[in-house]
Amino acid sequence: MTETLEATGLAIDDATADRLFRTARTVTTYAELDVTEEQLAAVYDLIKWGPTSMNVSPLRMLVVRTPDARQRLVANMPEGNQERVATAPVTLVLAYDPEFHERLDVLAPHLPGAREIFAGDDTARADAARTNALLQAGYLIVGLRAAGLAAGPMHGIYDGIDAEFFAENGWKGLLVVNVSVAEGADTSRPRAPRLGFDEVAQVA
Ligand SMILES: Cc1cc2nc3c(=O)[nH]c(=O)nc-3n(C[C@H](O)[C@H](O)[C@H](O)COP(=O)(O)O)c2cc1C
Repeated sequence: MTETLEATGLAIDDATADRLFRTARTVTTYAELDVTEEQLAAVYDLIKWGPTSMNVSPLRMLVVRTPDARQRLVANMPEGNQERVATAPVTLVLAYDPEFHERLDVLAPHLPGAREIFAGDDTARADAARTNALLQAGYLIVGLRAAGLAAGPMHGIYDGIDAEFFAENGWKGLLVVNVSVAEGADTSRPRAPRLGFDEVAQVA
């Protein structure tokens, strides 16, 4: 591992860096193989350790697998994204729970009273829920890659999705992620460049 650090500045080997970031792509066509509940649970059991503010952990997810649920989701996707959802082996609707503070007695034993603070401040609660669930969505995309899966994140029509799927639990949709086994999944366009460190970092 020391050798890896010296050669690349990374504490992971090249193959892992490729799998997680450098050659991993946002996929729009998928492998024939199924993605199992066990695989998804293993990914969640890994990424749940990613940090959130006060450990609020507001990410929730709907696993869309049946033809009926898939059709109801497709009806709430922008036209350009419909085919990609219609053909995915599994699609996750990532959401946040606006009532995440109800779990803080368990999640934040180090912060007595956190639940009550959020209960009395709707704006702070919505802001913490959205920000932290989006962070967790990022962890999830990388976690899927770590499990040999590939992700195709895309936006849905969230008012419609919330009414169709979350009327009872009150969750709020944030991102739709198609999931496939990575080997055999593909993308329709060449890799676009990224900005360099010098372009994004200001050193003070
Ligand atoms: C939050 C988010 C929203 C996205 N929304 C869409 C979308 O609505 N439709 C789509 O085709 N791709 C969507 N994408 C895919 C991005 O365009 C893609 O991840 C990005 O261009 C990087 O592609 P690459 O991983 O193949 O390099 C979205 C990605 C993210 C992370």
